[in-house]
Amino acid sequence: MIKALVLSGGKGTRLRPITHTGAKQLVPIANKPILFYVLENIINLGIKDIGVIIAPETGEAVKQALGNGERWKANITYILQPEPAGLAHAVKMAQDFLQDSPFLMYLGDNLIGTNLRHFYEQFLTYKPDAQILLKPVRNPQHFGVAEIDEQGQVKRLIEKPKEPPSNLALVGVYMFSPKIHEAIAEIKPSWRGELEITDAIQRLLDWKCAVLSDILDEWWLDTGKKDDLLEANTIVLDEWIKRNVQGEVINSNISGRVVLPAHSKVINSQIRGPVVIGEGVVIENSFIGPFTSIGHNSRILNSSLEHCVLLDGVEIINIERLEDGLIGRNTKVIKNSSLPKALKLMVGDDSIIEIP
Ligand code: DAU
Repeated sequence: MIKALVLSGGKGTRLRPITHTGAKQLVPIANKPILFYVLENIINLGIKDIGVIIAPETGEAVKQALGNGERWKANITYILQPEPAGLAHAVKMAQDFLQDSPFLMYLGDNLIGTNLRHFYEQFLTYKPDAQILLKPVRNPQHFGVAEIDEQGQVKRLIEKPKEPPSNLALVGVYMFSPKIHEAIAEIKPSWRGELEITDAIQRLLDWKCAVLSDILDEWWLDTGKKDDLLEANTIVLDEWIKRNVQGEVINSNISGRVVLPAHSKVINSQIRGPVVIGEGVVIENSFIGPFTSIGHNSRILNSSLEHCVLLDGVEIINIERLEDGLIGRNTKVIKNSSLPKALKLMVGDDSIIEIP
């Protein structure tokens, strides 16, 4: 029986300060944690036995969000990885769970614009020892990169090469036979001190084991950076959001694909979709423009925003125009016009404030 292994450990430093306190895999895209999209994609294939790698710092939050998998009718087993020693190290930690099963490995911060049916069926048909998913990118040096020949055969894999041999990046979705454990047992940590899954697959190639590839035609976002996160939000709102207005609408205009749940309120405002609004939100005397997600229990007053991601509990008050913003939990952005024109800020570590 095929199992799945979701990697939701790691350090999460790249999205600071958004992930100082939380796991980067739980950052919401269109108000839904990235990890939920990952699980849905796995469950759609009929895989029910899912191991989730967690880190000591963020593991509890991940456990709380996913629970035991009941809501997806799946079985989730949590596997603690004491330190982020690499993707292949995570597989090592999961050996008791995986046993001799073939498995799908999915990085918990990767969002892809398609189901994995074709990829999965190719694996079931040809039963290779490894199967990788590739996507042409502009910046291959930031990823694992594959070199393939004219027949599409994988020749060589390199992790974050300075001089990439191709523009084909490894997407964070893999399929393996149990042979991968033998390869992992043989590899040494890379220059960044991690046991790289890329090196383990290269080892399979050295042993002349079958390694297949598939090209991803749809979009793929590695949500590790702020701009990627806003872009992911834009794409998901654009492609997957349907209009569902249930909340209270008073003297307001709500046009296009807008999600407004029952316990949220819009008063004297205009909302132009695609927009997703969380539970317990109040929007008053404001304009919410396309491609905006507003987290639960937020409040927007006398403001105008567009192309923004607001996490839960955010307050935006008297802001004339807010664009391309990514605002962390329980943050308040307030303009108080009765004060002299001085900025008054209380901002967490590693924040970026751009003032025109
Ligand atoms: O996103 C695709 C890329 O993912 C591939 O192109 C690369 O070949 C692959 O090595 C990986 O590169 P990153 O450097 O971007 O991986 P990152 O450290 O961001 O970790 C990816 C996910 O795995 C993330 O959700 C955290 C989790 N993780 C990471 C490490 C290092 C773990 O659970 N344990 C770990 O030890």
